[in-house]
Amino acid sequence: MRYLNSMTVTRPIRNLALIGFMGTGKSCVGRLAAETMHFTFLDTDHVIEARAGKSINDIFQQDGEPAFRDWERRIVEELTRRDKTVIATGGGLPVGERNLASLKTHALVVCLWASPETIWERVRAHDHRPLLNEGDPIAKIRELLAVREPYYRQADVLVNTEMRSLREVALQVLHQFHMAHATHR
Ligand code: S3P
Repeated sequence: MRYLNSMTVTRPIRNLALIGFMGTGKSCVGRLAAETMHFTFLDTDHVIEARAGKSINDIFQQDGEPAFRDWERRIVEELTRRDKTVIATGGGLPVGERNLASLKTHALVVCLWASPETIWERVRAHDHRPLLNEGDPIAKIRELLAVREPYYRQADVLVNTEMRSLREVALQVLHQFHMAHATHR
């Protein structure tokens, strides 16, 4: 994966948005970054669960994936009004039409990257991700990554999370954000 430079970003930056596949550390890195900058932390999955009054698993099972993607679209629209917020997004959110473009109107978009094997090692102990609960999870991860990679690559910055602690990843993300923010606030 290529590393881009946030210095090439030429638009207002009020927020930081983390995109990337499940298990790449968006929520943990996002929390660390928010704490350090004294920004509000927001996780789109948690907002959806609170609004829907049920878990992501239940939304997928009872209402179907399209209903979940509708929730994501609505939350993304609301995010345009945010300021000083670190936003961790669900892994499939950037695929939604216009979601990435919308995030880019107010946030530096940073993609966290990891290999399918690393992703599986990180997510295998958890069962709250409906897309990985059936069949061959590694094959599913590869299949979804292949579809999503073109969207993830549209991030302003790509950060490889392999062989790095969450703290190191957070420091790298913060560095990129400060560079972009200082130039384009
Ligand atoms: C999804 C990722 C999940 C959650 C939902 C669907 C996806 O979020 O939004 O299970 O399509 O990749 P995380 O990336 O935070 O696990």
